[in-house]
Amino acid sequence: MRYLPFGPEGRRLSVLGLGCMRLPVHGEGYSPIDEEASIALLRRAVDLGVNYLDTAPTYHDGTSESFVGKALLGGYREKVAIATKMSRKCVSSREECRALIQDQLRRLQTEHIDLYLLHNVTKDSWRFFDEVGALDLIERARERGELGMVGFSSHEEAEFFKDLVDAHDWDFCQIQFNYADRYIQAGESGLEYARSKGLEVVVMEPLKGGMLARDDLPYMQTFKDSGRDWSPAEWSLRWIWNRPEISVVLSGMNTLGQLEENCRVAMESGPGMMGAEDLMVIDQAKEALDEAVSVACSGCAYCLPCPEGVNIPRMFTLYNNHVLGGGHTWGRNMYNFSTAAGERAGNCISCGECEERCPQDLKVSELMPRIHEELGSDG
Ligand SMILES: NC(=O)c1ccc[n+]([C@@H]2O[C@H](COP(=O)([O-])OP(=O)(O)OC[C@H]3O[C@@H](n4cnc5c(N)ncnc54)[C@H](OP(=O)(O)O)[C@@H]3O)[C@@H](O)[C@H]2O)c1
Repeated sequence: MRYLPFGPEGRRLSVLGLGCMRLPVHGEGYSPIDEEASIALLRRAVDLGVNYLDTAPTYHDGTSESFVGKALLGGYREKVAIATKMSRKCVSSREECRALIQDQLRRLQTEHIDLYLLHNVTKDSWRFFDEVGALDLIERARERGELGMVGFSSHEEAEFFKDLVDAHDWDFCQIQFNYADRYIQAGESGLEYARSKGLEVVVMEPLKGGMLARDDLPYMQTFKDSGRDWSPAEWSLRWIWNRPEISVVLSGMNTLGQLEENCRVAMESGPGMMGAEDLMVIDQAKEALDEAVSVACSGCAYCLPCPEGVNIPRMFTLYNNHVLGGGHTWGRNMYNFSTAAGERAGNCISCGECEERCPQDLKVSELMPRIHEELGSDG
């Protein structure tokens, strides 16, 4: 495994982390976790040198943390850093935030959580965390030694993301980053900004939740023509590790084969290790994906501001990914849980103001109700 110093004390963390949101399960849903297969996977990851485990109180219908606590018994706890989060979904008051941390220590069967994040910070949840003083509670728990490094994760766009970077003395942040999403959410500019402010950057969804590992998407021909025998997953991971700003890449591996491949790629990749030709292949792969999208929004944002507050370009990005992903849950999750309620397509009143400003002549007022119907939780 490859390691990099992380945080103020330079703790050496593996460049590949195990995301405990997509562990093997029995059946089709998020739970119950298949404990036998998941323990084998998690321990194999640690044996291969992975020492960053990422969980949250919401993963696997609330069972991921207690699973991780159990899987680390028998000498594994000491070998890893555990990252978990304060999720807005689990707390509605300051007292509940305080209680959550204590519950998490119990569930994880540990006296110290190495990395603690405000989870999935949106404009709405940031207001809540601010009002209840969540960071004050977190800093107090850090002083008592219950928590270690403090960070946040967010799927918000670069402008708000940069405000978040500046809003606290964070040790790290977690962003979605891969070649298909390099210009959305925090994107490249957010990545560079966070790094320039001294934050470690942890990447989530490096394969877009598995979409960029598929072998039936339009990028496939480009990869085949490249002459490389890299899988689509390997292309994506190598591209991320090529960036010097990245500290850890989390992947939700759920088979031993995926784990072994990603560990090998972690060892063989690194900043500046992709040649100009490889980078061109990635550009072409992204172009092939972009051409296959359903709504030709260029993200210019001329449509904004929407009088009702709808984040129109974001809605199109979610929708395009939803369609391209063949109904993968990503688009729905992003819409319902990672977008402020006031910015969702369901708020569109079809006034058409944006259509007069859209250089692509998109029928926004017709598309928004459709997007809400397909992605909204009650749609
Ligand atoms: N803080 C937040 O808001 C937030 C949000 C999202 C994720 N996360 C964290 O970030 C972690 C990583 O995100 P993610 O799980 O979406 O990661 P990801 O690597 O983008 O997607 C994981 C999926 O990719 C596929 N995969 C992984 N390696 C592969 C390989 N070598 N070959 C083929 N397919 C491969 C598997 O899909 P199949 O299941 O289809 O095989 C796996 O389930 C999560 O587990 C979670 O801990 C945090």
